[in-house]
Amino acid sequence: MQRAIAVLDSGVGGLTVVKELMRQLPWEKICYFGDTARAPYGPRPAEEVIAFTREIVDYLAQFEPKMIVIACNTATAVALQDIRGRVNLPVIGVIEPGARAAIDLTNVGKIGVIGTEGTIKSGAYVHALTKLAPHVQVVSLACPTFVPLVENGLFRTREAYAAVSQALLPIKRSEIDCLILGCTHYPFLAAPISEAMDNDVALVHSAEETAKEIAAILTANNQLAEASAVPVHHFFCSGDPVKFQQIAQDWLGNPIRLATVVWQFPQIRL
Ligand code: DGL
Repeated sequence: MQRAIAVLDSGVGGLTVVKELMRQLPWEKICYFGDTARAPYGPRPAEEVIAFTREIVDYLAQFEPKMIVIACNTATAVALQDIRGRVNLPVIGVIEPGARAAIDLTNVGKIGVIGTEGTIKSGAYVHALTKLAPHVQVVSLACPTFVPLVENGLFRTREAYAAVSQALLPIKRSEIDCLILGCTHYPFLAAPISEAMDNDVALVHSAEETAKEIAAILTANNQLAEASAVPVHHFFCSGDPVKFQQIAQDWLGNPIRLATVVWQFPQIRL
């Protein structure tokens, strides 16, 4: 049996990583968990996010995945080391890959980061960026209104454009040349974010870099899936399945692939 790559997030945000993973590694089987009943994680205390992440990793462990991808910046910021110490598998997050991509991209050495309150408060991006390039300047901003817009499927609405434009005012004139979307939900809002920044900054998504890192680890461990049958992916969410399925199909945009999805619901403690 082909072993899956386990991917987790507080909700639909990790699907932005899944989409890139499917593009770069189409033969890999994915087992995804979106904790939609308890999203957003951004305003929650770190201890709670760590406890939720542990629960989900324990749940996903029953499928014997070959690696774990924490496709949530908030959980990466506070729980990555904890999870690495608990499981005997490669565990990767999304912050270092995003930071690497931004350092490669910036010409002026001034980088913007937007994320949840939890991610920004943790200082994880400032740490990751200045570790790679000590002289880089970082301008950070928490955008707590963004995740609910995405979880409610409102990312293409007028309301989303207005909310994003309002939220990004504090960094609009900050002379950054690239902006890290430091929350995996934010690529859903890439169009309003670009527009709010006058299409003047490069948006950095961590998905592409993260998928490259996954490929490198699987190659090094000789664990890449064989190019054979199309994999059957498994998706789980803890909240409203209809809402999750609609957003997932819209974002992943592959009805044939999605016809193979098996929807199940975990017995997690809420
Ligand atoms: N998508 C997640 C992140 O990257 C979590 C957002 C949230 O639940 O607040 O931070």
